[in-house]
Amino acid sequence: MQLVPGSIGVFQLWDQRRGIACLAMETSTDPDPRWESWRRARPEPLGLHLDTAAAGRSSRAVLSAVSDHALLEARAGAYVAQEMAADALAASRAAIGRLLGMPEGGIAFVESASVALSTLLQAWPFEQGATVAVAPSEWGPNLATFTRHGLGMVDLRVDADGHVDLAELEDLLASSPPSMVHITQVASHRPLVQPATEIATVCRQAGVPLIVDAAQALGHVDTATGADIIYATSRKWLTGPRGVGVLAAAPQCSDRLRATLTASHQDPADETIGAALSSREAHLAGRLGLGRAAQDLLEMGPAAVFERLAAVGRATRRILGSLDNWRVIGPTDEASAITALEPAAGQDVMGVRSRLLRDHGTVTTAQQVFRAPRDMSSLTLRVSPHVDCTSDDLVRLREALASL
Ligand SMILES: Cc1ncc(COP(=O)(O)O)c(C=O)c1O
Repeated sequence: MQLVPGSIGVFQLWDQRRGIACLAMETSTDPDPRWESWRRARPEPLGLHLDTAAAGRSSRAVLSAVSDHALLEARAGAYVAQEMAADALAASRAAIGRLLGMPEGGIAFVESASVALSTLLQAWPFEQGATVAVAPSEWGPNLATFTRHGLGMVDLRVDADGHVDLAELEDLLASSPPSMVHITQVASHRPLVQPATEIATVCRQAGVPLIVDAAQALGHVDTATGADIIYATSRKWLTGPRGVGVLAAAPQCSDRLRATLTASHQDPADETIGAALSSREAHLAGRLGLGRAAQDLLEMGPAAVFERLAAVGRATRRILGSLDNWRVIGPTDEASAITALEPAAGQDVMGVRSRLLRDHGTVTTAQQVFRAPRDMSSLTLRVSPHVDCTSDDLVRLREALASL
């Protein structure tokens, strides 16, 4: 047996006799208590959860924040409970604001990332013939939403891996500027992180608004990018509750957004743009749970979590990269914990996803082309572990996939 050191703290143990690559992260021999405590802070998983990009596993603290408020609603009356939770709700907005680099008053709570985009497009005053510039990796349902709102689409030029080309962007904004630029900061369907901060700088210099879909980015990478609008969901990498989304507007957008709002949007108790864009009837317990999840991330140190997630993603791609019957989709070195696998031997991806769950207790996603119709051509299997993932987990997955 020979030991081959890899790049991100991964060691490859190559058993030539069996011809099986068995790889292990350094953390399995030298456990980091921080990521173990992340796991211990959550209820015991039923199996191997490798599906954070669909929905992450909430901590007990988040679950308690949700259930405590639901209980208070039943005991005090829902609207009295809302008044009693005013400070905690303000703290939720402040914590999300810190993660997005947006003022607390610019944070609106809605039900999901999709609702956030629709709310934004309803409020944003478009002129006839307005256009939005998007990259090929754009989340498919967003493309449908742009079309529904009558927006024409302009293609952003990208490099070979799919990152927006900044020089080409500068040229586009100087020669024929679209009404807005929209990027999905972290792609859902493969490892791809857009240079959102740099894109924001180019857009600001050209005076073109930048909207960022941070559904897969919040809690995963730095989302304080300087964009004009950022929207996201609670349930993925931040591991907050389902059914809560966030729409955040920078101060320079407030007047533009207010122009289209009607009296029904106004909240006499809170005149911020965040309150005006928030859904009226709402799962307040979920908003408190989201606030708890955001505060937990801030206490843990976002930079360390983002670095760990990038390392977990690279380790996943390295370990699965030696499979004969699956091809890892690149770029493999990307700072994303999302990995996508393409069948190399004609496997039925839906069937594999079901068998991983049924026979191996492993949760993954079978991804259909609608997720990124301009960047995908066939079904792929997505694996998206969180910070607590160990080398043993990845070796288990590798063995399961090799056997299917
Ligand atoms: C990149 C991206 N954008 C938007 C969404 C939609 O989020 P939601 O289901 O909260 O509407 C998703 C969901 O997976 C996503 O991955």
